[in-house]
Amino acid sequence: MSIFMGKRIVLGVTGGVAAYKAAELARLLGKAGANVHCVLTEAASRFVTPASFQALTGNPAWSDLWDVRMPNGMAHIDLTRGAAALVVAPASANSIAKYVHGMADDLLSTLVLARDCPLVVCPAMNRQMWENSATQRNVAQLRQDGALILGPAAGEQACGEVGMGRMLEPEQIVAGLEAFFTPKLLAGKRVLMTAGPTYEALDPVRGITNLSSGKMGYALARACANAGAEVTLVSGPVSLATPAGVRRIDVKSALEMRDAVLRHVAQAGIFIAVAAVADYRPANVSAHKLKKSGATGLTIAMEQNPDILSEVAALSSAPFCVGFAAESQNLDEYATTKRAKKGIPLIVGNLVQDGMGGDANRVVLYDDSGRHELPAGSKDAVAADIVVYLANLLGA
Ligand code: C5P
Repeated sequence: MSIFMGKRIVLGVTGGVAAYKAAELARLLGKAGANVHCVLTEAASRFVTPASFQALTGNPAWSDLWDVRMPNGMAHIDLTRGAAALVVAPASANSIAKYVHGMADDLLSTLVLARDCPLVVCPAMNRQMWENSATQRNVAQLRQDGALILGPAAGEQACGEVGMGRMLEPEQIVAGLEAFFTPKLLAGKRVLMTAGPTYEALDPVRGITNLSSGKMGYALARACANAGAEVTLVSGPVSLATPAGVRRIDVKSALEMRDAVLRHVAQAGIFIAVAAVADYRPANVSAHKLKKSGATGLTIAMEQNPDILSEVAALSSAPFCVGFAAESQNLDEYATTKRAKKGIPLIVGNLVQDGMGGDANRVVLYDDSGRHELPAGSKDAVAADIVVYLANLLGA
């Protein structure tokens, strides 16, 4: 289930051109299951209108401290009561300065002062405003006061300048909030993972690979990092962004993946092998592009790749090993046999037709205590459930 489900989030929008992105943020939070209430400053409503936020969230949007719609006239108190967070995005330099000093001269700054929930601030401003020592002092103070600061990012700015000060993209803010809300079940744990396919070269331009998208492995890396683990992800070639806080090592072939894993395994307490590692690689890699040779077919001699997971599990000081079994049939039988053969405590099984390449998955976990089916869902949701199960197993 989404960590946002049923959470009340107050989204404060201050005056900056990035305010238009706050509308998308409100939509994404609502889509993830949050109950979103938006508060705009007077300057924000010069860029965007409360009507957009009301339409996107299904809740009234607020901006006036003297608004009489709240029955007791206490919008500045009541809006954040029961809220999981007050998120200010974009947060202008001026608004940050006000929060640092406890000023309460409009509805949003009064809410910040009167809140009893965490404050999350997503700065957005011109790069000179960001770099100004006053802003830097204020942000440091706000952080010290317990606020979570998400961003800013560097890049092209609306003013035409390039530098630090862009608001994070709405998806990145949602990811940051997700990490913030996730219980830190793996705090202090070091997790080493593999993900994605491998690519076994035949010649400089051709190779043998498979259809693994890497999405399940990346979702699991994100879920482990969200749960407080230090994550190193050895990744085959995929076109996915590295989850925030995850250290990624790019490799191509199974042999490179094995080398990277063996280099880092001594530091790991948990090893999760999600990668779809090629079982075989071409025995000879041609230094030059192979040419067509008449009418005869091409025979490629193959040799077996090492089984990285079995090798790690057999180490004298092996980390807790988790494997994956993607099967097209007989899941229970094949996954159970694989777990025993590889000598690992936990294996995650799925039918390829349920998960490969897509954004959703349905998995069954197999361990000493038997078979445990997890609810089907998005790969992110399934990954979060696997982490909870894993943490319980380690705790027990
Ligand atoms: O034997 P099979 O490839 O089906 O096993 C799948 C599990 O073993 C996955 O966890 C996969 O990442 C891991 N594996 C590995 N090295 C290999 C083959 C599979 O680590 N060469």
